[in-house]
Amino acid sequence: MNRFYITTPIYYVNAEPHLGHAYSTVVADVQNRFHKLMGDETFFLTGTDEHGDKIVQAAERLGMSPREYTDRISGKFRNTWPLLEIEPDRFIRTTRPEHIKTVQLALQKVFDKGDIEFREYEGLYCFGCERFLVERELVDGKCPDHKTEPTRLKEKNYFFLMSRYQDWLIDHVKANPQFITPERYRNEVLSFLKEPLDDLCISRPTSRLTWGVPLPFDENFVTYVWFDALINYLTGLDYPDGDRFKKFWPAANHVIAKDILKPHGIYWPIMLKALGLQPYQKLHVHGYWKTKDEKMSKSLGNIVKPEWLVKKFGADATRYCLMREMVFGLDAGFSQESFVTRINADLANDLGNLLSRSLTMLFKFRKGIIPQRRGTSGPHTELEDAFRQLVPSWQESMETFQIHKALAETWKVLNMANKVIDKSAPWELAKHESKQDLLDDVLYNLMETLRMAAVLLSPVMPEAAGKIMQALGLDSGDNLSKDCLEFGRLSPGAQASKAKPLFPRIGPSKKQVREKSPDRPKKQKQKIEVETKKDKDDFITIDDFQRVELRAAEIIEAEQHPNADRLLKLTVRAPEKRTIVAGIAEHFKPQELVGKKVAIVANLKPVKLRGIESRGMLLVAKDDKGLHLLTLPDETEPGSRIS
Ligand code: ME8
Repeated sequence: MNRFYITTPIYYVNAEPHLGHAYSTVVADVQNRFHKLMGDETFFLTGTDEHGDKIVQAAERLGMSPREYTDRISGKFRNTWPLLEIEPDRFIRTTRPEHIKTVQLALQKVFDKGDIEFREYEGLYCFGCERFLVERELVDGKCPDHKTEPTRLKEKNYFFLMSRYQDWLIDHVKANPQFITPERYRNEVLSFLKEPLDDLCISRPTSRLTWGVPLPFDENFVTYVWFDALINYLTGLDYPDGDRFKKFWPAANHVIAKDILKPHGIYWPIMLKALGLQPYQKLHVHGYWKTKDEKMSKSLGNIVKPEWLVKKFGADATRYCLMREMVFGLDAGFSQESFVTRINADLANDLGNLLSRSLTMLFKFRKGIIPQRRGTSGPHTELEDAFRQLVPSWQESMETFQIHKALAETWKVLNMANKVIDKSAPWELAKHESKQDLLDDVLYNLMETLRMAAVLLSPVMPEAAGKIMQALGLDSGDNLSKDCLEFGRLSPGAQASKAKPLFPRIGPSKKQVREKSPDRPKKQKQKIEVETKKDKDDFITIDDFQRVELRAAEIIEAEQHPNADRLLKLTVRAPEKRTIVAGIAEHFKPQELVGKKVAIVANLKPVKLRGIESRGMLLVAKDDKGLHLLTLPDETEPGSRIS
């Protein structure tokens, strides 16, 4: 029996899960389900990485102990995955005793072999990266990731002598073209390996960090980061003696994004070699999800939460969009609009309509009973041929992690089926006694197309696949197997049932309706309202927000605009004198505004409103009762920055 072991990175608990983490974990889940479907024995591991300075600092900021804090965030990761129908076999935490034991065992082995050395090191330490940097990594003397100057530190530490294994690794990567995929990342690793490898510092003195794994050979030091985290892939299989380890290690497949290519493409195979173990089978590297061209990440504050996507779109549709919108290996941009377009076009329209049209006809012409096959030919026979070609190519795409391609090809056949309905016009066939065999075959092939689609889509959309199966009178899909991928296995005589729409269309958001409405007056763009973004139509980054300059202002004069009933002309100090034209005349009398300290947007491009130049915008809150001025305490100095 084939075996398949799939892992995700273990995620740092210094922030909550976001769409980037969800993507890697859904990919692993899809692969796990796909391999199960193909009859393989599988094991799927995910978890959390919980040691290190950053975690201690994050806990301190919240006034918690590291233990309380890691329990909480690790729990968030663990509880997020079921929302996305992700079903790992094991969830690992690096702070658990079984993992600590495994790390210590591995360290001792490598130490005994002579591959770990104690020496004094003086170098440039980046507190953001939590590691020593070498000169050639710096850009203008600064860490390229944290844009800060590293600190010169002199300290005794333990080093893993990686350079000893450099030639071995080069040979291994060269001899195994599939070891690191896609190819661009294999090339990247080979190009790292052209430079001499530095030995890896694997310890921290306990005077500086205690939240780590104590070294078994020196109690004054702990290890954390890579010698701790990477070992999780072994702990997950109960290394060294567990049955699972013997069964699954030779079939190890790791999924990561390109941020952690170096540790996984270089440190990890070398650590395994030093431990006397065979390297993992494959490393699958994907690109970044980005918003507005920047990597989605907790530190940039531009994250999208998985639970929000699930609430908005449902688990299956979210999984589908994640898999369909990113080419594995390349970066992809996230936008809510692109997800909505995908869901409406592919899921509500192509797949959902095919199911509802086909079932409606089956009920109308055959009382919902799957007909016998009669062997006629016509447009419907194309479907059988199409599946014969699709199945092997789908399988290859899935095996090579080109999930977007497997989906795109499946959709070609779904679209073909929608065309077959139009071409063969079952409603016309139904009128003629002599065309009943043909009608049976058209209906049978449509039902069989739906069944095949359900099987092919089941790794990505398990729930929808189950619903399609049930509608066809079959089991909900828990015991699918490779044999189900043969066209013609649907048994005649089964009673279908009417299904609810699989994927309801998603209407345009309120914001889009407002923007598209032709009678929306142009001048409303200047409207002085802060709208509560109830449905988070877009996300902005901290940088976007910081471009908006909010300031305190004092209204010193207010009068009706001479040419517009809805507008007031305000003179404010912020601290310089300026005029703001505000569309609030229906809500406030000029005299009640004078003397108020208010909040304004100070750096808006000036515009002329009915002949008067307006420099800035007043902030108000709006509810059913009307507008409410955002007023500030009297002692606020006009011109002070609001942040
Ligand atoms: O690096 N796009 O943890 P981490 C795609 N603990 N994937 C993304 C992403 C994005 N914008 N942002 C994050 C660590 N990811 C270590 C790993 S493994 C032994 C130790 C995903 O919380 C992606 O899988 O920073 C990436 O590799 C991982 O989260 C990094 O997670």
